[in-house]
Amino acid sequence: MKAGTGADIQHAIRVLKAGGLVAIPTETVYGLAANAFDPEAVIKIFEAKKRPFFNPLIVHAASLEQISTFAGPISPVLRQLADTFWPGPLTILLPRKEAIHPLVTADSPMVAVRIPAHPLTLQLLQQLPFPLAAPSANLFGTISPTTAEHVQQQFGEALGYILDGGQAAVGVESTIIKEENGKINILRPGGITQEQLAAVLGYVPERTVKVQDQPEAPGMLKSHYAPKIPLVMGDISDLLEKHHDKRIAVLGFSRKYAHDAIIVQYQLSASGDVHEAAKNVFSALHTLEDSGAEIILGEWVPSEGIGVAINDRLERASA
Ligand code: TXA
Ligand code: MG
Repeated sequence: MKAGTGADIQHAIRVLKAGGLVAIPTETVYGLAANAFDPEAVIKIFEAKKRPFFNPLIVHAASLEQISTFAGPISPVLRQLADTFWPGPLTILLPRKEAIHPLVTADSPMVAVRIPAHPLTLQLLQQLPFPLAAPSANLFGTISPTTAEHVQQQFGEALGYILDGGQAAVGVESTIIKEENGKINILRPGGITQEQLAAVLGYVPERTVKVQDQPEAPGMLKSHYAPKIPLVMGDISDLLEKHHDKRIAVLGFSRKYAHDAIIVQYQLSASGDVHEAAKNVFSALHTLEDSGAEIILGEWVPSEGIGVAINDRLERASA
């Protein structure tokens, strides 16, 4: 059975109020949402995703005022960043209050929160009497969804409703930050770049969690975003020679490659624009993993701006 899909906010509200799951569009990727104040609804998220309980969820809210009911206090610098980038792809860690069950934060005293920028989801959040816990709407460890179709393919039956808000505009997940000893650190690179944060902070925030480290953001586990067939990153011309006996899919940044073994190729941005590449990267991986190819050969994008987040996802998709 397929879950209903559409833009009916009132229906989404009914499902959520009844403790069900609704896929929601955000500007980054689609989320798999439940009432963040209802632990029984939250458990359904972990079950549907097959996600380990040690991996905490981001709580999505309509306003700073609503956030103050379940998280905080918020320091002046975090407040400044929130005022600058919300609604938008920035997630901040704040002290958890009683209203949020420890299940949501995997027992951490900190809860990850953000106000997303998608108009449909903002309207939904404004009309709900509770915030929404929502991880990305994909099975644990697989490629993140940037369209309602991606969600439907993985979760047809488990969901009460899929709120269809079109293709995600940013395309990679939010940047997660934490304040430590008065300094802002980046736990996961994402839609808000290091440069954007630096422009507000007056210093360049450090990235403190790296792939394979003991995960402070457990979503930083190394084998994440894995396609069904191997993804090998590097110099595509060299890789083509090495893998010429296979049916090859190419994930290129801006140029095209010619080789008899290539059965399909995807350019993330023909004009070399990293924002366009971010918007396309998960869709490209979804398309290529189902293309009939045996292997995907990919190349890094320029490691600047949002390109850092793209390369992070590609690194973990190829782990
Ligand atoms: O853009 C996004 O952030 C999307 C959309 C749906 O908002 N959400 C998303 O959720 O990417 P998810 O669950 O796929 O990744 C959330 C990350 C995980 O790495 C998780 O470990 C981390 O956030 N996280 C959540 N709560 C945390 C907490 N209390 N402390 C540290 N890390 C946390
Ligand atoms: Mg995810």
